[in-house]
Amino acid sequence: MVWRGLIAAFGDRMNISKAVPPVTLFEGNTPLIPAPRLGASLGVDLFLKYEGLNPTGSFKDRGMTTAITQAAAEGAETVICASTGNTAASAAAYASRAGMQCVVLIPDGKIALGKLAGALAYGARVIAISGSFDDGLRMVREASDKAPIALVNSVNPARLEGQKTAAWEVTEQLGSVPDWLCLPVGNAGNISAYWLGFTESGGDRPRLLGAQAAGAAPIVLGHVVDQPETMATAIRIGNPARWKQAEAALQESNGNILAVTDEEIFAAYRRLATEEGVFCEPSSAAGVAGLIKRINEDRTAYEGRKIVCVLTGHGLKDPDSAVRGIPAPETIPADVDVLLKSIGM
Ligand code: F0G
Repeated sequence: MVWRGLIAAFGDRMNISKAVPPVTLFEGNTPLIPAPRLGASLGVDLFLKYEGLNPTGSFKDRGMTTAITQAAAEGAETVICASTGNTAASAAAYASRAGMQCVVLIPDGKIALGKLAGALAYGARVIAISGSFDDGLRMVREASDKAPIALVNSVNPARLEGQKTAAWEVTEQLGSVPDWLCLPVGNAGNISAYWLGFTESGGDRPRLLGAQAAGAAPIVLGHVVDQPETMATAIRIGNPARWKQAEAALQESNGNILAVTDEEIFAAYRRLATEEGVFCEPSSAAGVAGLIKRINEDRTAYEGRKIVCVLTGHGLKDPDSAVRGIPAPETIPADVDVLLKSIGM
């Protein structure tokens, strides 16, 4: 089958308008990559859903094809979102594609370079606020109430209609529903969307393992975090919009949510790249960090199980994190003998 994006593939199972042609960049259909080395060390059958291979480098494209198509059907000319970066880049790309204006609010100084570069390259109006993602979300909700602007954050139900397709892809690629699905949780749209997808399939459902950054773990703590802090800036969120829905999904799936420290996130991030050759952004490794932590505490629920970790964004989104703490490349003369000596041969 020639791949023409998520609406072409799954539109009949999406509750969105079909009045206009899909606004698409042929998103979705991302690989489910076995992770045998990491899996063996954890005693599980591990797979990575590599969402960084979507057109703008994150899973957000799944929900943006549907949100922007719906906005186009409703006649929107301008869309707006608050973002820790990936939603911004994705909204900007799909808005360009649809001939719409895009306005994005980002927390000043707290978004990764590749995401800012994307949003700017796609021609969005990028506005930095001296506040958090949560402040930005409050502002864009209010702005879209007061002015004719379509809100494309995941509070918009059309977003979940696209993002739920990842659950169906995982099931098809694995040949069954996984025992566990592990993923990072920020605004809690993605965990809600996966659960919607698995539930709509009507068959078996996985247990969900959500991971929040320790400095931004409102759902784990049970209260809003006023000043969320983590180096995993994509999930630096203190008051998730889909908090209640995520809690319901966690409960229905007999799942778990836990907090992982930045050290644990970065350790998992390095292991994915150096042991499996899969480079994701730091936040994306939070699900893997959570899995490692749970297995170290009590492996019985995981041993030998089929486990899928969702890697939500590409490693190149955040080049600063990739090089931080690693010595710069050494420079040598253009001489092969020096080269061999320097690599110990
Ligand atoms: N991973 C990455 C790479 C993200 O960018 C996000 C969210 C998440 C995980 C968490 O997903 O919010 O649905 O629970 N990024 C949003 C943004 C907030 O603005 O790009 P969630």
